[in-house]
Amino acid sequence: MISNFTFYNPTRIVFGSGSIPRLNKLIPKKAKVMLLYGGGSIMKNGIYDQVVTALKKREVLEFGGIEPNPDYDTLMKAVKQVKKKQVDYLLAVGGGSVIDGTKFVSVAAAYQGDDPWEIVAGDGLKKVKKAVPFGTVLTLPATGSEMNHNAVISRRSTQEKLSFGSDLVFPQFSILDPETTYSLPQKQIRNGIVDAYVHVLEQYLTYPVGQILQDRQAEALLLSLIEVAPKAMQFPPDYNARANFMWTATNALNHLINRGVPEDWATHDIGHELTALYGLAHAETLAAVLPWLMWYKRKEKQAKLLQYGYRVFGIKTQKYSERIDKTIEATAAFFHSLGMPTTLTAYGIDPDEAAERVGSRIDARGWQLGEHHDITGKDVAAILRLSQ
Ligand code: NZQ
Ligand code: ZN
Repeated sequence: MISNFTFYNPTRIVFGSGSIPRLNKLIPKKAKVMLLYGGGSIMKNGIYDQVVTALKKREVLEFGGIEPNPDYDTLMKAVKQVKKKQVDYLLAVGGGSVIDGTKFVSVAAAYQGDDPWEIVAGDGLKKVKKAVPFGTVLTLPATGSEMNHNAVISRRSTQEKLSFGSDLVFPQFSILDPETTYSLPQKQIRNGIVDAYVHVLEQYLTYPVGQILQDRQAEALLLSLIEVAPKAMQFPPDYNARANFMWTATNALNHLINRGVPEDWATHDIGHELTALYGLAHAETLAAVLPWLMWYKRKEKQAKLLQYGYRVFGIKTQKYSERIDKTIEATAAFFHSLGMPTTLTAYGIDPDEAAERVGSRIDARGWQLGEHHDITGKDVAAILRLSQ
């Protein structure tokens, strides 16, 4: 049965070429703004200049250096500045890492407790009444962070990577200009396509509860990603391909397709541990886990695997087991077509060692993952051992 749900998403999307000057209308005139960004790509591609011009006479502080997989210690430096300088508006300009980092800064600056890591690792959000408002200029389609209330924060000093979600951290607005993606290296586009694709599968590839629209929406997103991928990877960039990719990635994780339906997210949970322990990029971890998780959970996921195989790849003729094999192969083949490996061994990681380390971490946290909450450390280890 479809579960009861509410749907809430207050983020205003401003989409299209030449949208960055709209910042001037979107941010209050009297705001004291902190502009947060990453390692400097926005300086090279002209986005920084466009943003600063659009902010006009406002007082603007800058905080750069937010790394991919944003680090707690870096972000706490921004929090200190926000408090000291009484910043009252944040602007994230970058990919998922900068946006997630800004979400953390937004709540951590208003946190009334002793240990801000509790926002991510415990119940610290209870000690936040009102977050610092923020908007975003997205430069990398992938995570959906620009239109959702999630953030994933890393802490290198303890090799942890954990997520939190709260309605306090919906961006007030996000500017999506497909031309900001023109400077992306092909590898980041590949990562973005794979991340968005796996987001859809995490919310779709579970078991049927009678949903019709959510499934058709999810399949539309998967088919759109498959259709647009070859063109989105091309240089010189094609505007419509980048526009379709950008809007599809946003819709893949903006709270719409998961309403009232079961969700998995085990691939992401396992993937975050792989990033924390081995430093793989987020999407690389997903592609090295998902096909093997599909394999391992093929019985529990049978109905949806058959539906996915048929509706997305047109696989229908063979026996159930053959259809499922072909569906998993087609998923891996799509990733391979983008140049994305689907094994841990491709990164020189020993699957047996990763199985031990990640499996025991999952157990130590007491996690039972997946839509049936039946994936324990032992199962995670079995899934990772297959990744070779
Ligand atoms: O830091 P800069 O110099 O800007 O360079 C970045 C970074 O090196 C570069 N880049 C971004 N836009 C660019 C560009 N280079 C040239 N031109 C541009 N227009 O790309 C590199 C990667 O950026 P990053 O923000 O790390 O990538 P992504 O958007 O994939 O974000 C990954 C983070 O988001 C989390 C991941 O776990 C990871 O920490 N996720 C967040 C989610 C959410 N909030 O809902 C969901 C996801 O599942 C994911 O877990
Ligand atoms: Zn993801």
